Amino acid sequence: MLKKVGVTGFFALFMLNAGLMLYFGRETFQVTSNAQQPSHYSYHFVLISEEVDNEYWRLVEKGAEAASRKHNIHLDYWGPKQANNEEQLTFIDKAIASKVDGIMTQGVSSDTFNYLVNKSVQKGIPLITVDTDAPESVRMAYVGSDNYLAGKLAGETMIKQTSGLQKVGIVTGRFDASNQQLRVKGFKDAVSNVSRIQIAGIGESNITKSGAIQATYELLKNHRNITAFYGTSALDGLGISQVASLYQQKKRPFIIAFDTLPETLTLLNKQKIDATVAQYPFVMGERAVETLFSIKKGVYPGSLQYTKTDIMTKLKGSHP
Ligand code: BGC
Repeated sequence: MLKKVGVTGFFALFMLNAGLMLYFGRETFQVTSNAQQPSHYSYHFVLISEEVDNEYWRLVEKGAEAASRKHNIHLDYWGPKQANNEEQLTFIDKAIASKVDGIMTQGVSSDTFNYLVNKSVQKGIPLITVDTDAPESVRMAYVGSDNYLAGKLAGETMIKQTSGLQKVGIVTGRFDASNQQLRVKGFKDAVSNVSRIQIAGIGESNITKSGAIQATYELLKNHRNITAFYGTSALDGLGISQVASLYQQKKRPFIIAFDTLPETLTLLNKQKIDATVAQYPFVMGERAVETLFSIKKGVYPGSLQYTKTDIMTKLKGSHP
């Protein structure tokens, strides 16, 4: 009998304890999850990048987040794990199917992309391009660098900062990305009247540092007389510089990089690269959200929203 009372008492105590734990536990956890999920927002926008974890695109995302916070917008950030047009297009289709309020995406030059932009706009979902334009599509606006001009800046810098015959190796992100094509074209046009600057060859990095290392090796293998390099996407300069410092040439090649990621700035300060074309990815993200937000409010800010590009150099003098 006594034993039975004891067991019942213990069971009752156990149940009470478990109940209290459950109640207070739930209260505690609910506070955290509520704090992370805004219950109501003005719009739901999606940003789609070329490669989700690329450091450069994370800066675009940060800018987009800052502007979204300001306007109480719910922002999703999507992109392929490794640059891949088809996956990128699938993300755009998914965003349309999810009936979001607006899409910001890197522009892709393809019929499928143009078809998806049409579909989006027809369904009343404004779509704008960011970082890379696709002017042949019906995108509502472009926010990003004037990539042709950026390429010209790089070419003019090569003219100013070097003297004597230069054989240039170009490492570019992706052959079929139009921002990369424009950066190469701008560069070639800038140096076209300067006979001492000649293009030796061009290789593709697939926007990774290891790809840039590989492309640089190939270029040096096939064109032993290269004296200068131009990298046209954010990680290309890093790969070029790594190979250049291992190669133990008597004179390291002159190097122009792209973007101002921390590692690039360190190399610039250590004088391991000579110049870099600065873009403003944080500003691009901010402006993209502001542009889409204003389109939603019925104010059309104009189709070309160029952000700044500058040349950053450490060395003042000319490269021998
Ligand atoms: C380009 C982006 C590209 C990134 C890759 C940047 O310079 O503007 O389009 O995705 O480099 O690292």
